[in-house]
Amino acid sequence: MKLFLDTAEFDEIKQGVDWGVVDGVTTNPTLIAKAGQDHETQVKKICGIVGNVSAEVVSEKKDDILVEGRRLASWHKNVIVKVPMTPDGLAAGKVLAGEGVRVNVTLCFSVNQALLAAAIGAYIISPFVGRVDDINEDGMQIVRDVVAAYRQQGIKTKVLAASLRGPFHVSEAALAGADIGTMPFSVLQAMFKHPLTDSGLKRFKEDYLKSQEAKPAREAEAVKR
Ligand code: E4P
Repeated sequence: MKLFLDTAEFDEIKQGVDWGVVDGVTTNPTLIAKAGQDHETQVKKICGIVGNVSAEVVSEKKDDILVEGRRLASWHKNVIVKVPMTPDGLAAGKVLAGEGVRVNVTLCFSVNQALLAAAIGAYIISPFVGRVDDINEDGMQIVRDVVAAYRQQGIKTKVLAASLRGPFHVSEAALAGADIGTMPFSVLQAMFKHPLTDSGLKRFKEDYLKSQEAKPAREAEAVKR
């Protein structure tokens, strides 16, 4: 499963890319507003350091989505145009996909919606996990079901587990067979963590220092022999 960052904060993306673990980025209007930067400037800047950058349209009508989607796609070859899971969003998405634009259909909450996205040739479908958990249902089950249905049908659209809120979500998405998981930077940081890694490193360091301290005595002993 490829790891994407769900943020428009350049410094976070740069750090993830420098660690060598991040393959892409998902943004949405909320994340762009949070970053407090001009949409075009920020997306272009992000595209300069990583491929696979989803940029979302805000238009609602097919023709408007088409104009906006073409504009987003023209910003950089790394842009993936995010369209909403609506009849207009899909109709525009089909035209964009036909023009060679990679399309991500966002806000997916069911297998049927995922089938509709596949039917228009979407490059990515984004089932949201956390938002379903928020209403006291099992968000990960949608990822499992979409992956199973796509496999059964031989569908090539990539399943991107979105709205992942913690490290456990990431593991579960991978086990469910998602192609991509997108997460906030804090979740990526949390993926590194394990108390046994920390205590193991501490122990190795202590043992190394002990052996260094014992070195002069060992060498003196060797000279005597
Ligand atoms: C994905 O493309 C969305 O930007 C994102 O995962 C939404 O996550 P949220 O439900 O935590 O806002």
